[in-house]
Amino acid sequence: MQNDLVTQIRQKVDIVDIIGERIPLINRGKNYFCVCPFHDDSNPSMSISREKQIYTCFSCHATGNVYTFLENYEHLSFKETLKYLGDRVGIDVGNIGSTHKNTKYDKFYEAYRLASKYYQNNLASEKGKEARKYLSKRKIDEKIIKEFEIGLSLSENNLTTLLTKKDYTLLELNKIGLSNENRDIYHDRIMFPLQDITGKTVAFSGRIYKNDNQNKYLNTKETEIFKKGNILYHYHIAKEEARNQKSIIIMEGFMDVIRTSTIGIRNTIALMGTALTHEQIVLIKRLSPNIILCLDGDTPGKEATLKAGEAFLKEQIEVKVVTLPNDDDPDTFILKEGEERFKALIENAIYFNNYKIKALKQKVSLASDKEKAAYIDEVLEQLSKIDDIIRIEITLKSLAKEFDIGYNTLEIRFKEKKTKKNKPTSFINASTSKKKTKYIKAAETLIYYMISQEWVLTKVKREHLIFPEEKYRITINEIFYYYEKYGKIEIADFYTYAQDKKEVKEVLDDLLQEEYENDVNSLLIKDLFEAIHENSRNLEIKRLKNKVLEELDPLEQAKIAEQIRKLRIGD
Ligand code: UTP
Ligand code: MN
Repeated sequence: MQNDLVTQIRQKVDIVDIIGERIPLINRGKNYFCVCPFHDDSNPSMSISREKQIYTCFSCHATGNVYTFLENYEHLSFKETLKYLGDRVGIDVGNIGSTHKNTKYDKFYEAYRLASKYYQNNLASEKGKEARKYLSKRKIDEKIIKEFEIGLSLSENNLTTLLTKKDYTLLELNKIGLSNENRDIYHDRIMFPLQDITGKTVAFSGRIYKNDNQNKYLNTKETEIFKKGNILYHYHIAKEEARNQKSIIIMEGFMDVIRTSTIGIRNTIALMGTALTHEQIVLIKRLSPNIILCLDGDTPGKEATLKAGEAFLKEQIEVKVVTLPNDDDPDTFILKEGEERFKALIENAIYFNNYKIKALKQKVSLASDKEKAAYIDEVLEQLSKIDDIIRIEITLKSLAKEFDIGYNTLEIRFKEKKTKKNKPTSFINASTSKKKTKYIKAAETLIYYMISQEWVLTKVKREHLIFPEEKYRITINEIFYYYEKYGKIEIADFYTYAQDKKEVKEVLDDLLQEEYENDVNSLLIKDLFEAIHENSRNLEIKRLKNKVLEELDPLEQAKIAEQIRKLRIGD
């Protein structure tokens, strides 16, 4: 790999922009913070340094530079990342990108691409006439068909035939859910391709349109590339839009997403009939802190709303809720009531806690006092997880009114709950979880300054230091080597260089968890040197002491004792 190119591109992008485009950032002092996408995070525990061009999570200890961030976040290979960033800053990375022999799944993705083309052609052909009529009756026009790549499966088994001619075995086609034995899976259905979070088609959902006595939708079975629990319809598009709109709307069906797209709302995803999984919540959280549930208006929709709202609350997120009238879903509501009224509903979404109070009020109003009390307790419990005092007051007031209880009574109970919960939350103090000796700290600090200030590096070179532990010694040597080869060194670039060097990577990952003073002076460096020397003296003394024990000759013993004495006084 041409390291020059890697460095050049890295220096032209700002890691704060790259992460900020994907996750909402909070600015605190010279660093930025965000919810860490690499573990199940609820507090912003990832910090991003513009100065160092490095990110670090204080909780899960994920760390790295802009390349490793994109590799892990977007699931790209290093070469793809390089190509992506290169395109962005206008540096041609040549044919690096085109050599990408990606994953073992490439052949599967290609099968889906071909299948989708095939279905789309069917819909456009003479045989697609009836299906086109059905779609047009549902107000799905040419433009939408194109945008969502809607297609049609026929009564024959042409897809299996087509793909076996193209070097796919029946075994493969069965495995990826396109064929069953030598027959197509889908017959006479309108085909909606389903994409994974990166936008690759990995499955289909086929809707009946003339034969009513079958399941309305038939979905591809779970395969290696299609795991229902970590897919959300339209996610790859919503990713961009949620950033622009500063919110993300969750719906039940993909028809709803398709419909809202026609009125220009595209920060939308669909659950597609599954209960919200933890993985999906993690994916949604990444898009925006403003999450709006807009599920169907019928009873199952209401129940799903309560469940989903609770699931988010468990992860310390309070979503907003839109209630649709009657049995409407966004699709039917927009068709009946029009664009403006739908947009007004979204504007007026209410917080989940208020939704719950309303929804449950209807249920418990006839029930016993005991049930009421349990319910109120539950609402207070949820409320104690929220930090917004105005919201708290509003909710307490409406609770008091709804249930005819004194506001003060509620407030006392609420405060009890709140104090019980007040454990300190952490994002700085979680940092040094492992106890490090003063020598290890000195070694790490010195290494940090070596790769951020050239004069320190030169100074270390002149001072014969023996670092504690093999991995630090390896790192030091790699730093010297790197500096000699490239003539300069910066943390974020050296980090890329270290990716395939186990010990160096380990040292960097570890030391980047710490905070370092910016203005380093030679006095501090001298102290660090002294600590390292002291450590190597201690080690040497230990070694000599062992030697004394084994030495039989008294004269030799005396010599060693003298050596130890000299080391002790730091001679
Ligand atoms: P809905 O029944 O609400 O779908 O199911 P819809 O959007 O209103 O569909 P139309 O308007 O009748 O065409 C919501 C989601 O549940 C899944 C689908 O993914 C659908 O988008 N579903 C529904 C199935 O997987 N199978 C079914 O038989 C029904
Ligand atoms: Mn519908």
